[in-house]
Amino acid sequence: MNVAILGAGVISKKMAETIRGVDAATAYAVGARTLEKAQGFAEEFGFEKAYGSYAEMLADPAVELVYVATPMSHHYQHIKLCLEAGKHVLCEKSFTVNAAQAKELIALACEKKLLLAEAIWTRYLPSRKMIDDIIASGIIGEVTSLSANLGYNNKFKERIVKKELAGGALLDLGVYLLNFARMVVPDEVTKVVTHAVQTEDGVDMQDFITLHYQGGQVASLHSDTTGYSSGLGSINGTKAYLEVVDVNNPQKLVVYSRARTVVAEYDIPEQITGFEYELQACIDAIAAGQVECEAMPHSEIIYIMEQMDALRAAWGYEIPVM
Ligand SMILES: NC(=O)c1ccc[n+]([C@@H]2O[C@H](COP(=O)([O-])OP(=O)(O)OC[C@H]3O[C@@H](n4cnc5c(N)ncnc54)[C@H](OP(=O)(O)O)[C@@H]3O)[C@@H](O)[C@H]2O)c1
Repeated sequence: MNVAILGAGVISKKMAETIRGVDAATAYAVGARTLEKAQGFAEEFGFEKAYGSYAEMLADPAVELVYVATPMSHHYQHIKLCLEAGKHVLCEKSFTVNAAQAKELIALACEKKLLLAEAIWTRYLPSRKMIDDIIASGIIGEVTSLSANLGYNNKFKERIVKKELAGGALLDLGVYLLNFARMVVPDEVTKVVTHAVQTEDGVDMQDFITLHYQGGQVASLHSDTTGYSSGLGSINGTKAYLEVVDVNNPQKLVVYSRARTVVAEYDIPEQITGFEYELQACIDAIAAGQVECEAMPHSEIIYIMEQMDALRAAWGYEIPVM
């Protein structure tokens, strides 16, 4: 599969490294807003082609799958460009800035019979099934609640603080926590209690979200763009609890007894970067003629986008749509 990268920024480098380690993927092309930048990137990571505009890259008939890695504010327009050029797409999280954009793009991908996937890597990682299996084994009993946090000092980054770049903790970090909660407790959410610490522009720098579920479980989520935090996920049950060490990229899963002693520890398989699973899932889905990845189907992309729309509405933060 000839893979192209749209945007030669920070996370594109990690995907470029990943492509080198995935047999089914070829590092084919990179497109950036300037040719110089694209050429530098192509040279560093061994891409065959470098293009000085996204449109030129998408006009190359050999490009098959495009990884979109621009700020969230630009995902809608960049995904659309790719689909209109007949390319399959794997787009970074958060998928778009709102659910309406996501629905429109998903409809377009279905109409064109092209794969459209969200690169929310935690959905594709082996740790997801490991967590499901540990819970299903009954070792922690019935899940009663969960908590998770994710914090990085990212407030110096333009795409985090600027409203016009769809800044904020929710779309950057909270999206992982909402996905974590959704994977652990897929029940209906019956009540949401939330509060955000916002800039003068309304951009959410820290979010506090409590989700109450139909079955009585509760999820407590904290995302923070102003400082570092443990990234710990704790899944609490009637018999014991499970800690997920780093919900952003689980490193270890540890079950503790009611006396808080370690009962079992599970190591995570070695990774290239962790992005190989989402990449391979796209390659496999395309080979099977599918328009979505089973690990993160379109219905789930829309579900999470709608959840984030409702949270921002509660805080009164409206992202300008481009
Ligand atoms: N999965 C993960 O672990 C992870 C981690 C970090 C970020 N992300 C996601 O990856 C995406 C990109 O994040 P990043 O940190 O890589 O971003 P970045 O380096 O700030 O920007 C990525 C690219 O977007 C374009 N760009 C940057 N600022 C722009 C602006 N003001 N207007 C128009 N285009 C602009 C540039 O493309 P050119 O190179 O063409 O100039 C830049 O190289 C985001 O969706 C983010 O949520 C994912």
